[in-house]
Amino acid sequence: MGAIMKKAQTAKKPETIISLKDITKKFPLEMGGEQQVLFDITFDVHAGEFVAVMGPSGSGKSTCMNIIGALDTPSGGTYELYGRNITGLSPDELAVIRNEYIGFVFQQFNLLSKRTVLDNVMLPLMYRGLPMSERVRRAREMLRRVGLEKFESYLPTQLSGGMKQRVAIARALAGDPKLILADEPTGALDSKMGNEILKFLKELNKTQGITIVMITHEFEIARYANRLIHIYDGHITYDGPVPNTEAALIKSESKGRKK
Ligand SMILES: Nc1ncnc2c1ncn2[C@@H]1O[C@H](COP(=O)(O)OP(=O)(O)OP(=O)(O)O)[C@@H](O)[C@H]1O
Ligand SMILES: [Mg+2]
Repeated sequence: MGAIMKKAQTAKKPETIISLKDITKKFPLEMGGEQQVLFDITFDVHAGEFVAVMGPSGSGKSTCMNIIGALDTPSGGTYELYGRNITGLSPDELAVIRNEYIGFVFQQFNLLSKRTVLDNVMLPLMYRGLPMSERVRRAREMLRRVGLEKFESYLPTQLSGGMKQRVAIARALAGDPKLILADEPTGALDSKMGNEILKFLKELNKTQGITIVMITHEFEIARYANRLIHIYDGHITYDGPVPNTEAALIKSESKGRKK
């Protein structure tokens, strides 16, 4: 893994972080047969991009994100992360890759409710072989970055939704990932808190160059990104700069439907 990072750091062009080629996903149906959810998904994401993956409910966004996050494997196609084909890796190898390279932010925060804020943020550092004092120092630094340094000994249940999501972002950052994957990060928040979180993600992308792939079904949220990939019925129907209005995407939906 070290060699991959070294190669990536010396490259001149923005490095390719995610490369999906002809990715398909089929799920078995309970009554037999299977349902195809993703069709020939092909796109690259380069270092420093902020990409929104947008589409209606059931279009395959989370399925796509789970593959990108090495939480699930595709039925076909190839997936390269940092130039390494990870399609055929074992669950253990995938777990190492997730821990080392990817920070996750989920709609429901996924915090451990009986552990303190500080413990939650320290979690991804557990497998890094760092001494306890260093883990605490790093977790505190991340909490400071999200403005929650005074809340380290609170339990997640004592925090507002927006604060919980900030803890989740601090946890995602603790492992020093180059890539953050966020699945509907503001889906459980009111619009004021949601905007705060989006501004924060945007700031991370701008000032620290952290690559972000964010799933949303709302155009107003996708506008925070620099690039928009629209998925409809498991097909990419748009991939480009965020358009000024949603109308461009609705046109592309009807194109996708005809397929
Ligand atoms: N583990 C699974 N087993 C079987 N079918 C699944 C599984 N996960 C997803 N699906 C199906 O795949 C399709 C796409 O689901 P997915 O969760 O990717 O959609 P989504 O775009 O994220 O939707 P939402 O906006 O509602 O979160 C749906 O028809 C869903 O029922
Ligand atoms: Mg989803």
